[in-house]
Amino acid sequence: MNTKEFLKIWDQLHLDFTDDFPIIRELTERFRNGLIVDLGAGTGRLLNAYSTHNSYVFLDHSEESLDILKEKGRNVQGLKFEAHTSKSYTIELSDQTVDLCLVVYNGIAEMTPILFTLSELKRILKPEGLLYLDMSNPEGIFTTSEGIFRFKNIRSEKYSVSTETYPDNRKLSPNESRFVFEIRTRGLIESITFYQTHIPADQWIHIFNKLGFSIEKKTGGWSNELLEKDSPHMHFWLKKNIQPEIMNKKNSQLCHDVFNQMSSTYDDFCLLHCEPMKIKVKELLQNYKGYYPRILDFGCGTGKIGDWLKEMNQENCELFGVDISERMIQSTREKGLYTSTMQWDLNFGFPEPSSNQFDLITAVGFLEFIYNSENLFFDIARLLKLGGEVIFTVEAKPEYNYKGRQSPASKGIEMNCFSQQEVLDLVNKSGLQAEELTLTAAYVSPTTQDTIYYWFVKARKVFK
Ligand SMILES: C[S@@+](CC[C@H](N)C(=O)[O-])C[C@H]1O[C@@H](n2cnc3c(N)ncnc32)[C@H](O)[C@@H]1O
Repeated sequence: MNTKEFLKIWDQLHLDFTDDFPIIRELTERFRNGLIVDLGAGTGRLLNAYSTHNSYVFLDHSEESLDILKEKGRNVQGLKFEAHTSKSYTIELSDQTVDLCLVVYNGIAEMTPILFTLSELKRILKPEGLLYLDMSNPEGIFTTSEGIFRFKNIRSEKYSVSTETYPDNRKLSPNESRFVFEIRTRGLIESITFYQTHIPADQWIHIFNKLGFSIEKKTGGWSNELLEKDSPHMHFWLKKNIQPEIMNKKNSQLCHDVFNQMSSTYDDFCLLHCEPMKIKVKELLQNYKGYYPRILDFGCGTGKIGDWLKEMNQENCELFGVDISERMIQSTREKGLYTSTMQWDLNFGFPEPSSNQFDLITAVGFLEFIYNSENLFFDIARLLKLGGEVIFTVEAKPEYNYKGRQSPASKGIEMNCFSQQEVLDLVNKSGLQAEELTLTAAYVSPTTQDTIYYWFVKARKVFK
């Protein structure tokens, strides 16, 4: 079965699936005359639910789906829309331009990395805008039972189709459930399988709060009922707050303020003082078959990893950056080297729900600022693909630097420096395997003229 045939079947299966139309009508009427983005618009199941008083941007990763949608859309009188193929975590719309974002019927569960998708949606929403998410509840009766969902069969000259959605028991992490959607056709044992990641409501709520969304309403089922623990689907109606939650800890707030202040001079500082650091990190980056398709950069700052990959002609990858300082992130965005960036306090860990996403995770010049790097390393181990690598640096303890004196306090920020054993413990406890560990000069302090030594480390996720 090719993609086109599959999409035709998918489209037919969903023709009668209109239970959620009243919610969609309510929402589009509420934002009458506004701009609405439907992310994961698919083959246009919702077309007949949309009000014609709005303008729509339909986005989907599948060009073939949008071809079907466009044809159907032309027959809906008065519907003003454009449709584009798009990755959910890199949306080509300007900041604060959209009134309502719709992600309906499990769309978010397919749009990985999910956290960056949410961050992009937040960026394009107007301050008074609304994000509506609808997805399966992994704790619902419907979804935890066996063989949970069968669509009405389809018969054509070519196919008799039976479909089923069921939970995949191979959980990748305690809170992550995977769902499998299969279409089986007559005669041939042929199936198309989708894997979706679903997490429980309380975990979503944790993520929304930290990202800076507040919850206007939680509903469940297929329509506008209140969300119950065992509702089959859950819908979150999210308002955009202005600031993401920064951990109520001294270092988070201080790092946010200090790096915001330093953002315009940071690259010049690196150019003058941090050449040895750059040489050593580039050496570590070089080793892995020359290419990392998908990279996550923790504490990305002004995007040095992007700069260095470009110098190595390796910019043809998906590169995701996370940082607490919106001004450092702004500099990164301006360089245009990152696929997507998000503001997030990594003292909360990184609860991206989809595991096994990245070929490489970098954390350069950053772990010193984190209170509990051990927790962050469990997330790193979960997020890496099998065989994937983490490359990180940490400042060595004062006995290796400053001739045993305390390191000069940096604007009140507490620095967590490491001994060799502490670095090894960090790696080993997370289940990763250390491959390289060297103590190397990273930079010369312009204030004390001391040469500052860092641990430069590479570790790998291996099959155990
Ligand atoms: C010394 S800079 C390193 C930047 C970049 N990795 C480099 O090598 O140039 C440290 C970065 O960590 C970020 N950072 C500090 N604490 C953080 C936290 N809790 N969550 C996310 N980012 C944080 C800072 O905002 C800053 O951009």
